[in-house]
Amino acid sequence: MSSTLISPAQALELVGEGLRTLPFPHAPEGLYDPARYILQLGGKRIRPSLTLLAANIFDADPARFLQPALAMEVFHNFTLVHDDIMDEAPLRRGADTVHIKWDLPTAILSGDLLLIEAYKLLGQAPAHTLPAVLQMFNRTAVEVCEGQQLDMDFEKQTDVTLAEYIEMVRLKTSVLLGCSLATGALCAGASEADTDALYIFGEQLGIAFQIMDDVLDAFPEGDTFGKKAGGDIERGKKTFLYAKAMESMKAEDRDKLLSHYGKPGAGHVDFVLDFFISNGIKNAATQAMEAHFQRSLQALGTVNGPTQVLHQLAQAVYERTF
Ligand code: IPE
Ligand code: IPE
Ligand code: MG
Ligand code: MG
Ligand code: MG
Repeated sequence: MSSTLISPAQALELVGEGLRTLPFPHAPEGLYDPARYILQLGGKRIRPSLTLLAANIFDADPARFLQPALAMEVFHNFTLVHDDIMDEAPLRRGADTVHIKWDLPTAILSGDLLLIEAYKLLGQAPAHTLPAVLQMFNRTAVEVCEGQQLDMDFEKQTDVTLAEYIEMVRLKTSVLLGCSLATGALCAGASEADTDALYIFGEQLGIAFQIMDDVLDAFPEGDTFGKKAGGDIERGKKTFLYAKAMESMKAEDRDKLLSHYGKPGAGHVDFVLDFFISNGIKNAATQAMEAHFQRSLQALGTVNGPTQVLHQLAQAVYERTF
């Protein structure tokens, strides 16, 4: 068990340095520049921080596991490049998305490169942990694809229940947070029970995190969100807000929502925003977020070891100060 704990800021420092020094060649530029571009746009880098802090519960020197931690961030960036193509998103981290700055084929291929780079980094996990680490990662990567497919399928459906929504976001978002934590635990030799508890902590935190992402897409606060506001509503994305409204409102109100949801134009988006506020849907999202956050902390509380830094990080993510 570890007696020295690094802070979230120190974890971020390690991750930042690791990403800056990834050995990408220069040519062909069309392949490597977009990969460097998306990684250097920053982002919160929550996932590799979770890996390092989880490892640190069981090992005093988590920097030894920097490569597998970076794998989580590089994989995440791969999913973002392809997600932005699928969502036709113009903005990411306050800047042009890769397919806008370059073009679609470039975004597909540099995304593929990031996926392969993620595997190369993961391959540097301690050799005796590799079978378990790879098994977890492969399962997670397939689940993210499943979640992304459901997300697209739901665009064309009007009847998406809250349970279906939760399963979709568990797959597209949460499992990677769970995997990031479990990878740190596995690398550092944690017990199966502690690894599982950390996975559940990540899964529940991830659901809270995606509900927050949905709320911020509709109601951005400040100018730090870095994505196009109202994009989910215009595209007809089945967010928590939508699923909650459809499940809790009368047929007449549901019809009103449907006549404005998924239609381009500020007028339609404004109607939907007012609808979510005046019918208490936005508040319900905040409550659901809180419930999943509390569940995540419960799971964290069962881990045998010093978890205070992860608790601190989760709180900061929840309060959007990380
Ligand atoms: C964005 O993830 C995609 C979701 C799962 C909501 P983040 O909010 O972690 O994005 P970055 O990496 O900080 O930009
Ligand atoms: C993100 O879902 C899930 C993945 C990238 C796998 P979103 O589509 O909601 O993410 P943002 O809002 O574009 O970051
Ligand atoms: Mg998206
Ligand atoms: Mg998406
Ligand atoms: Mg989103």
